Amino acid sequence: MAQIIFDHVTKKFRNEIVLDDISFEIEKGEFVFIIGKSGAGKSTLLNLIMKQEEVTSGRITVNGRRVDIMQRRKIPAHRRRLGVVSSDVGLLKDRSVYDNIMLAILATGKSNDKIKPTVMKVLGLVGLAGKFQAYPDELSGGEKARVLLARALSVQPEILIADEPTANLDPDSAWDLMQLLEEVNYRGMTVLVASHARELVTIMKRRCMTLVAGTLVADEKKSIYNSKATDIFEERRVLKDGKRNR
Ligand SMILES: Nc1ncnc2c1ncn2[C@@H]1O[C@H](COP(=O)(O)OP(=O)(O)O)[C@@H](O)[C@H]1O
Ligand SMILES: [Mg+2]
Repeated sequence: MAQIIFDHVTKKFRNEIVLDDISFEIEKGEFVFIIGKSGAGKSTLLNLIMKQEEVTSGRITVNGRRVDIMQRRKIPAHRRRLGVVSSDVGLLKDRSVYDNIMLAILATGKSNDKIKPTVMKVLGLVGLAGKFQAYPDELSGGEKARVLLARALSVQPEILIADEPTANLDPDSAWDLMQLLEEVNYRGMTVLVASHARELVTIMKRRCMTLVAGTLVADEKKSIYNSKATDIFEERRVLKDGKRNR
């Protein structure tokens, strides 16, 4: 069974369709980009996986469990299996890098003696072991992004979900971060990256799902260049077809 399954998922906010009849499957260990312009529905799709939002219709299965009908008391355990990198959940400015990661681990209820080795291990993975005492304001944008990744990895998730992880990064830092995500994936973790940065997709040559105005217009195995996402006529076509169908 695939690790993430969307089966005819539609999401509306008030009466507006934000995701329109989306179906796909992601296998354990895949690296998948979700690309599309701002407002295309990328974050909403990720939020549905995390059950931060409720589906309007359709089924979502993650790690063998139905997320759309999941009982409230099972949601925390579901979320603990996901590592999330998102600018919505930034670092605590009045806490050191070490504390920021420690607090994330504590929230999962891990025993105290495992915390220090885990923090240092994930900081080592992102090349920042030497910065564990630093405060967020003392870090560059690229370093902050890597701490966010380390924090997401510290809970040993089965799926890493990164929503625009390279937003606000210079090209070199963005590239470094993508290399780290690739390494994480190489070790077996499923990685989902939402991005409007098409050039990254071009470089990475990974599976790429393209959202245009809430419609999944392409799902390519090894995307080298996504013409549909760059084509404004594609967006107009989707919007026009959508109006006709509704
Ligand atoms: N909580 C919400 N309430 C109402 N509309 C929302 C909400 N979240 C997102 N939207 C709308 O859904 C659409 C898709 O948003 P989003 O998933 O954030 O797109 P993306 O991440 O691709 O930029 C946008 O039109 C946005 O305004
Ligand atoms: Mg978004």
